[in-house]
Amino acid sequence: MIKADKEGFVEVLGFKLFYRIFGEQNKKGVLLCLHGGPGATHDYLSPLADLTSFGYKVVMYDQLGCGRSQMPYDTSYFTIERGVEEVEGVRAQLSLGKVHLIGHSYGGLLAIAYALKYQQNLKSLIIASGLASVPLTISEMNRLKSELPKEVYDILIKYEQIGDYENPEYQKAVEVFYKRYVCRLEPWPEDFVYTIEHLSKPVYYTMNGPNEFTITGTIKDYDATQELYKINLPCLITVGKYDEVTPKVAQSIHERIKRSKLVVFENSSHLAMWEEREKYMQVVRDFLDSIKV
Ligand code: ALA
Repeated sequence: MIKADKEGFVEVLGFKLFYRIFGEQNKKGVLLCLHGGPGATHDYLSPLADLTSFGYKVVMYDQLGCGRSQMPYDTSYFTIERGVEEVEGVRAQLSLGKVHLIGHSYGGLLAIAYALKYQQNLKSLIIASGLASVPLTISEMNRLKSELPKEVYDILIKYEQIGDYENPEYQKAVEVFYKRYVCRLEPWPEDFVYTIEHLSKPVYYTMNGPNEFTITGTIKDYDATQELYKINLPCLITVGKYDEVTPKVAQSIHERIKRSKLVVFENSSHLAMWEEREKYMQVVRDFLDSIKV
């Protein structure tokens, strides 16, 4: 990751959150970045710092209980509603003004939830491999799972039936899914590996579940699809052709946000910003540059 111009902790809703600012002096606009998981860290979003070379200031932070941010005593703090207020708190405390908001994966869901409450504080919205409906995403992930080689699929089912998600044989089968639908680069980028190794188990297990395609946590029934029409902002939706949060999920968002544009990255899965980095930055840059506010 390139070196941040500024980093530290900001107190939001009674907890210290770790943040990094790239391109502190840049004047074109602020891009506020939301990581996924839920439970990841900001580190794997590091390619977005490339946008500083086009004049944008890029701000990332670790959500509550994630990365270097404080861990609350109680998992009841880990909710989408609180996450929305946290985004608003970060924006206000760091005096970012009206921002371009980008959310990756669960961060995309959070960005949508934020926009539904606070769109007056946004210049634009970018949903990167994100989702509005967890049930639709679950059904799509189940489809992808069923398209795995039969011997891999059988192992997944065998251990899921007994709830043994930590079994090494199960983990190996999970890796087959991840290498197809999460990140196709070989080896995986260092910042992504860092994020996986520092995944917040309390947040991930509470909100998501034991792995990417077993979403049994508290967000499992969340669905904002019917509210998307209320978002009246320039919106960019990106998705990888082989994304675990599939093109169908992206399409269902695109159809309902009037001012949205959908870009499918043909050689990517869930991490197009890594898998097709140069093209990705060009697409985001063109989108941001086109916004006149
Ligand atoms: N678990 C997925 C992510 O946020 C949806 O990365």
